[in-house]
Amino acid sequence: MILGVPKESIDGESRVAIVPSTIKSLTGAGLEVVVERGAGVASSYLDKMYEDAGARLADAAEVFGSSDVVLKVREPVERSDGQHEADLIKEGAALISFLFPHERLDVLRRLNARKVTSLAMERMPRITRAQSMDALSSMSSVAGYKAVLIAAELLPKFFPMMMTAAGTITPAKVLVLGAGVAGLQAIATAKRLGAVVEAFDIRSVVKEQVESLGGRFVELEVETSDAQDKGGYAKEQTEDTQTKIRDLLTKHVAKSDAVITTALIPGKTAPVLVTTEMVEAMSPGAVVVDLAAEQGGNCELSTAGRTIVHKGVSIAGPRNLPAQMPVHASDMYSKNISTYLLHLVNEGELNLDLEDELVTGPMVTHEGKTTDESLSNGDAENA
Ligand code: NAI
Repeated sequence: MILGVPKESIDGESRVAIVPSTIKSLTGAGLEVVVERGAGVASSYLDKMYEDAGARLADAAEVFGSSDVVLKVREPVERSDGQHEADLIKEGAALISFLFPHERLDVLRRLNARKVTSLAMERMPRITRAQSMDALSSMSSVAGYKAVLIAAELLPKFFPMMMTAAGTITPAKVLVLGAGVAGLQAIATAKRLGAVVEAFDIRSVVKEQVESLGGRFVELEVETSDAQDKGGYAKEQTEDTQTKIRDLLTKHVAKSDAVITTALIPGKTAPVLVTTEMVEAMSPGAVVVDLAAEQGGNCELSTAGRTIVHKGVSIAGPRNLPAQMPVHASDMYSKNISTYLLHLVNEGELNLDLEDELVTGPMVTHEGKTTDESLSNGDAENA
């Protein structure tokens, strides 16, 4: 069975789906790996490193056209030569990638036309046996780390406490809103840089994790007892509760030098936790880094992909932070996707068990049909 690793075509995407150090585990399972020339260069992985690891180099047409399984980071798009990647995939082959299909119904149509089985990495169930395949968590970790570095770069102050001959400098105060994967990594990073860290999450069960990283958990007198669903995800709060949360957070936001927001309810627009009024109560020079900017923003003023300054406060809404740390982001993704692939392979062949939730959860298209009914609105079907 041939695995194909194309170079990513989306502008600014510097990650690669498979890194050289993962290739041995794939060839060891009897699989042949074909990598597009230059696929890893933006992640500092040169063609020779792939060849030395046992992969074969080829051009895009061969990688897409000859592979039984195409492994990508981002959804198929139109390449600079005008050809759409989905149209280049061999009929009946499989594609494993981040897909975010609700926003890409046209891509599903193309995949169905070629009877491609597509498995979306972001749909991997967050269950124990899939932990090593959870690419969304890997990327959120990278983003949480990077968000703090952005805050430190924008803040016109030191993060750590310093005792100097010119006096003592007090440490920066950092507030992290949302203590899931990205939030916990942000707390750990801000602590390592010497800041005093507070964090809030509607799931009070994370209090212990926040404290174990050296953060102080902000306790709010708000009834959010049913804040967590069976899958461990946050549930959407009523507008009344949201208002109470914002009221209670106001004084914590006002005294913070940097606020990192990471609050997310899966499938919903991001909850607004920091209003314009709250930003205006912050000190000049303070910073908000909003990781949820693309999902609508946890801060009312954030704009995805931009940093703005509002009354002296910088508000950053960075996009695709993992692509700014492509070496480790690719390493982590490569480990996640190859572990997943090996889970799906039996005696050198792809063996999709349609009873396995690790297959049905991520599956989006199969045998010319869209498998998720919420996407089958006629637009995505190859009817
Ligand atoms: P997660 O699901 O692990 O964590 C989200 C946390 O927000 C949960 O702990 C949840 O309880 C909490 N939360 C939900 N509603 C809240 C509220 N009203 N108040 C306080 N806390 C609340 O999600 P993860 O993986 O950590 O991702 C966080 C955000 O980062 C997402 O919006 C994600 O899209 C974004 N992200 C952004 C990237 C970028 O490059 N900009 C890259 C990766 C992730």
